[in-house]
Amino acid sequence: MTQPIIQFEGVCKSYGGQAVLRDFSLEVFPGEFLTIIGRSGCGKTTALKLVNGLIAPDAGRVLVQGEDVAQTDLVALRRRIGYAIQSTGLFPHMTVEKNIAYVPSISGMRGWKGAQRREKAAALLKRVGLDPALAGRYPRTLSGGQRQRVGIARALAAGPELLLMDEPFGAVDEITRGQLQDEIQRIHRESGITILFVTHDIAEALKLGTRTLVIDKGAAQQCGKPEEILRRPATEFVKMLAEQQRQTYLPPDEPLEDRAYCGAGTPLRAV
Ligand SMILES: Nc1ncnc2c1ncn2[C@@H]1O[C@H](COP(=O)(O)OP(=O)(O)OP(=O)(O)O)[C@@H](O)[C@H]1O
Ligand SMILES: [Mg+2]
Repeated sequence: MTQPIIQFEGVCKSYGGQAVLRDFSLEVFPGEFLTIIGRSGCGKTTALKLVNGLIAPDAGRVLVQGEDVAQTDLVALRRRIGYAIQSTGLFPHMTVEKNIAYVPSISGMRGWKGAQRREKAAALLKRVGLDPALAGRYPRTLSGGQRQRVGIARALAAGPELLLMDEPFGAVDEITRGQLQDEIQRIHRESGITILFVTHDIAEALKLGTRTLVIDKGAAQQCGKPEEILRRPATEFVKMLAEQQRQTYLPPDEPLEDRAYCGAGTPLRAV
């Protein structure tokens, strides 16, 4: 059986006596695009930060590629994991090229100097749908959507097998957002990278996810293929979330339980 790339085993995490995650367990398999959705403050960012060791669980374990994060060299771990966040976190005093090359450079990866660095950064810029001519620009001279794309290019630069994305498209307009969603889907398809993608937008979660995890009240409410979330919501909260999207994705007037299950890998299409 394939080994999960990420495992949460009975993870508990509290802040100031307030439980954020309670006995939280999850397995993510290589090549999945797992979207995580839930209300603000439900613990989505907390879950991502447990994966790259930015925070540690109070109880339970988080494993990446079978290794307990608590026992792992965190610097080495983070080099294997791309991390893209809503605010992009680009370094303002560095050009786009230097931002992209940052992790490979500090990691001492070969082939990231001079002309090779230029070539690699240009290839990454193209991969995220940007003109390589932007390489010499500074982040402040880019649009919000361009900055998001550079943030993704930077997260991909060291060739990670795992990409953590925390509401990466939150700060852009609807059209740009749709384009960025298409780009990340293409990158996922072409590279086979595993993606953990946090969003508070159910439409985005269902469009992008090969599986979607719904979190509420510190616990997983349901984790399933988008079709399952829509057709067989496990809890009232999931049902409430899915309700509007059912109208977008499924033909009208079909009762909840009677639908035939679409099966693995069937992409959702708006009707
Ligand atoms: N360092 C911290 N100290 C104290 N409380 C924290 C800390 N980090 C997070 N929290 C609290 O933990 C809860 C979960 O936070 P988290 O950032 O995981 O939520 P989220 O689901 O990502 O929310 P959002 O959708 O708003 O980004 C929140 O109530 C938050 O206030
Ligand atoms: Mg968050």
